[in-house]
Amino acid sequence: MKIIIVVGARPNFMKVGPILRAITAYNSVAAQGSCVLQPILVHTGQHYDAVMSDAFFTDLGLPKPDIFLGVGSGSHAVQTGEIMRRFEQVLVESSPDVMVVVGDVNSTLACALVAAKMNPRPMIAHVEAGLRSFDRDMPEESNRVVTDHLADLLFVTEPSGLTNLSREGIPAERVFFVGNTMIDTLLTFAKKVDASEVLSGLGLYDPYQGNGHRPTLRPYALLTLHRPANVDERGALLEIIEGLQELASSCEIIFPAHPRTQSRIHAHGLEAYFRFEAHQDSAPASGIRLIDPKGYLDFVCLMKNARLIVTDSGGIQEESICLGVPCVTLRENTERPVTLAEGINVLGGVRRDGIRRAVRQQLARKQSTQMPEMWDGKAAGRIVEVLASFMPFPHNHASALEQSAAAVLGTDMSTLQETTADRQSTASVGSTVDRMVGAAEAVIRVLRLR
Ligand code: UD1
Repeated sequence: MKIIIVVGARPNFMKVGPILRAITAYNSVAAQGSCVLQPILVHTGQHYDAVMSDAFFTDLGLPKPDIFLGVGSGSHAVQTGEIMRRFEQVLVESSPDVMVVVGDVNSTLACALVAAKMNPRPMIAHVEAGLRSFDRDMPEESNRVVTDHLADLLFVTEPSGLTNLSREGIPAERVFFVGNTMIDTLLTFAKKVDASEVLSGLGLYDPYQGNGHRPTLRPYALLTLHRPANVDERGALLEIIEGLQELASSCEIIFPAHPRTQSRIHAHGLEAYFRFEAHQDSAPASGIRLIDPKGYLDFVCLMKNARLIVTDSGGIQEESICLGVPCVTLRENTERPVTLAEGINVLGGVRRDGIRRAVRQQLARKQSTQMPEMWDGKAAGRIVEVLASFMPFPHNHASALEQSAAAVLGTDMSTLQETTADRQSTASVGSTVDRMVGAAEAVIRVLRLR
């Protein structure tokens, strides 16, 4: 069974790694190493930088993509349209049985739309389905809603996803609560991140006192910020920066800034609020220190050792609760309500007073991990089990069964196929199975009559 797996942007890479590994594991058990499930990795190139893309392939041990579309940046319409144009050719040439998309980025939506209009169309599987912020101003919310409504198989990370999809009328038999593949990756690499040298590289240890004790790590906060609503307009960005000044005066804030944010800071002339030291700093301890985005292992190491995480990212909220590091989310809502349950993550909003209050509250909080239901490192295995259960019987098996049925019925093949045509679904996978079921039912009917 051919499975196209699509990645495009930074938050996709850690979600597909475990699925690829689970496919390899499935193949090795199912047929002594033969490729029962044949993955084809497609990278749209929505993110293309060394820091936004390549570093993740290296850190996560991902295979080189089989197909790279190289779409790059653009407005939403240009980027989405360009992905669709290039991805259609991929589907025509490879005619997969299944296409897997993850998350909520433009690549997710674009590829789901293309697949939905193919004839015959592959099954569309959406990993991280059902999340809703109910905020249609977020581009990702449109991507989520449309992708879910195009998908045949919806893999859900948290209970709210089940509720949302049921409310939107998606049939329950298409929906599978499997857990979170991003957390599969976090658990897989949890030990490896301790070997990262990012903390010493940034000079976050107090100088060695020569007293035999290990150097101590200075408390620091970790900040990420990239949502268009938070960074594109000067006033909105300034409000957040002002809201963080109290924190910045008492502890250093490490800020690996997304390219979009870096360019906005310069365009808005807000450089004075930041320090730009990328390496060991001799006079640290306060201020917002802006550095380039980090690879996966360095970034998780920074999250794991932070006193506090402040972010507007979706995925980081989930990672912070699993690492047990208190988090303030710089948004008015979250599509991931499970992260709010124990208070390890709180919504700080985007106004300075609310941010200050949330930061004070979370600084007073002790570290404690929260592992939501099914976030046990096995989500990808569950997904692959479901995908494999839809494995088509080889077409020649269907034909052979139809021929036998026709012989028993004393009719010809085309008459038999016409009588069973009403069972056929538009999905190529379904049609093979339905042909076999139709033929078998016809035989049973004849045998009963005799
Ligand atoms: C995208 C996703 C968002 C996700 C985020 C993570 C959509 C709608 N948004 O937003 O959900 O949280 O990725 O990073 O899909 N850029 C570079 N180098 C790169 C990639 C982008 O410099 O490798 C610059 C581009 O020039 C562009 C800006 O960053 O101006 C934004 O990139 P884009 O992919 O359009 O959206 P993100 O803001 O990254």
